[in-house]
Amino acid sequence: MSKSLPSRSISRASSKPLAVAVFGAGGRGVHFGELLAKIPTQTRVAAVAEPRAAYREAFAKKHGLGEGAVFKDWREFLARPKSCDAVIVATMDREHVEPSVAALDQGYDLLLEKPMAVTIEDCRAIEAAQRRSKRAVAVCHSLRYHKAFATLKNLLDEGRIGKLVSLDQLEAVAFLHQAHSFVRGNWGREAESTFMLMAKSCHDVDYICHLVGAPCLRVSSFGSLSYFRPEHAPKGSTERCTDGCAVEETCPYSAIRHYVNGNREIWPATAVSPDHSHAAHLEAIRKGPYGRCVWRAGNDVVDHQVVAMEFKGGITATFTMTAFTQTGGRKIRLHGTEGEMEFFENRIVVRPFASGNTEEILVKEEEGGHGGGDDRVVRAWLRAIREKKAGLILTNAQESLRSHTVVFAAEKSRREGRTVELSELRG
Ligand SMILES: NC(=O)c1ccc[n+]([C@@H]2O[C@H](COP(=O)([O-])OP(=O)(O)OC[C@H]3O[C@@H](n4cnc5c(N)ncnc54)[C@H](O)[C@@H]3O)[C@@H](O)[C@H]2O)c1
Repeated sequence: MSKSLPSRSISRASSKPLAVAVFGAGGRGVHFGELLAKIPTQTRVAAVAEPRAAYREAFAKKHGLGEGAVFKDWREFLARPKSCDAVIVATMDREHVEPSVAALDQGYDLLLEKPMAVTIEDCRAIEAAQRRSKRAVAVCHSLRYHKAFATLKNLLDEGRIGKLVSLDQLEAVAFLHQAHSFVRGNWGREAESTFMLMAKSCHDVDYICHLVGAPCLRVSSFGSLSYFRPEHAPKGSTERCTDGCAVEETCPYSAIRHYVNGNREIWPATAVSPDHSHAAHLEAIRKGPYGRCVWRAGNDVVDHQVVAMEFKGGITATFTMTAFTQTGGRKIRLHGTEGEMEFFENRIVVRPFASGNTEEILVKEEEGGHGGGDDRVVRAWLRAIREKKAGLILTNAQESLRSHTVVFAAEKSRREGRTVELSELRG
């Protein structure tokens, strides 16, 4: 679908490094700050907006930001006359639509973390603001940019397996990632963030839409929260791992093992506290969300879900997300009229029917978060701004709205127990 993007002109060319303001200096904001700092000839971190003092100060110190460039809230930053070229919105899911629309309306180019927003109306509002402002918008669907995933798409487009007929994609979330983010963490409760398919798997649905390259027509979905519930709490377990839990030492989800006694300098342990001393992490799990028993955390998002999709031309796709894997990653199988392909991590296997051969392609992993995908999103977005080439952005507002609409349709199907036609949502 990206091929049909209108090449919209973006009205500025400059040889000076693009000045970027970061909204939200949490996990992702810090990461984007680091990516920008790696390419000082192209860009510079020029401002930050972050309500949490420790995170704000640490970010400001790291990027050498003076008083006039440090804000407690994105609203404070946007209340001032335009002072930068672009903004990155890395606030939580429910805090995407307002800063995005306001920033676009003030003439800032925008890098927006996924999901665009948590309702279809708000996603549409961002897309409309992009059209109004004609600024460059990139949504951080890093899979499309990741080298191995991009290679798979190229092989498909080259016709290596003929015409695509069907595909299956598995997202292995991994038991610990599920517990960290979708049980104890930010995305455990839908009312505080969004539903699981949007929070975690909008990347997958977006990539499937990208692979197929035709409009999705209808979807069916099933799934539930099956395991991380109070009735599955082991005997002798307690509200918190630090409350003298009888099974803590052998529990796969022990917060003491993962956040305090393990390596505190790597994710997900880094999310627990800005201070990575043993004492600070222990205090964080005694009092904060990450020390809660995974069966008693009050979470409500699903831990497994399947989606079946039919696209124009009769192409079908299935997607499964599950918490119940040891490690994370995606597995994809593509079935074409002249062959099949399998994908896992950086390995692609192509099996054409006519020759009966098997070809293995290994794609070198890149650095920079999400296998280099984050780095490539940022660089594509900056290039699009500098070179006035909107087509360099694979995940612009229009493309992202299209794939988000499929996600909303799938969730509607899961809740209503029926097949949902995309035309119902497209309006
Ligand atoms: N692309 C990906 O693969 C990927 C991965 C993880 C998270 N995300 C998305 O990135 C976003 C941020 O996630 P995170 O893990 O960094 O969350 P986080 O909670 O660590 O960071 C969000 C930050 O926004 C700050 N904030 C809240 N209100 C604000 C305001 N009014 N003005 C400025 N800042 C404000 C918070 O204090 C917090 O520091 C989420 O939407 C999430 O879904 C994307």
